[in-house]
Amino acid sequence: MKKILVICLILSTSNMLFASQSAEELANQKCGSCHLMGAITKEKLKNMKAPPYWAIAKKANLRYEKNEDRIKYLIDYALNPDEDKMLFPKETKEKFGVMPSQKDKVTEDEIKLISEYILKEKS
Ligand code: HEC
Repeated sequence: MKKILVICLILSTSNMLFASQSAEELANQKCGSCHLMGAITKEKLKNMKAPPYWAIAKKANLRYEKNEDRIKYLIDYALNPDEDKMLFPKETKEKFGVMPSQKDKVTEDEIKLISEYILKEKS
């Protein structure tokens, strides 16, 4: 019994370590309920509630030349979304509504990590 407990403990802590290191996991957890993140599945495409992450990357990359400005935009938008700041066309708002602020759900440091993952998509 003790052995099983120890094994469980090791497994759960290594899982936590992995999760805190993986920007993809974090992006999925914090933004993936609305934005399509990571691998595409039929289910995810059907349940889209916001533009997918590669579309966000494309907008940020076109609008801002420096990576730090792209990250700033992502952090600012996730914490203080506003239709006047939108890079996406108005139809996006009509289809999905304006994004609700994620202020109490995600920290600035976490969005920084998530941004690095999102912005790697240079399509
Ligand atoms: C509850 C659903 C929801 C969650 C969770 C969510 N978003 Fe969004 N997001 C939206 C919707 C809807 C839009 C499209 C409308 C808009 O631009 O406001 C959007 C748009 C965006 C845009 C593009 C804004 C523009 O038009 O220029 C960015 C950047 C963004 N989200 C970042 C994030 C990040 C980063 C996270 C995770 C920390 C996140 N979102 C979590 C719903 C969500």
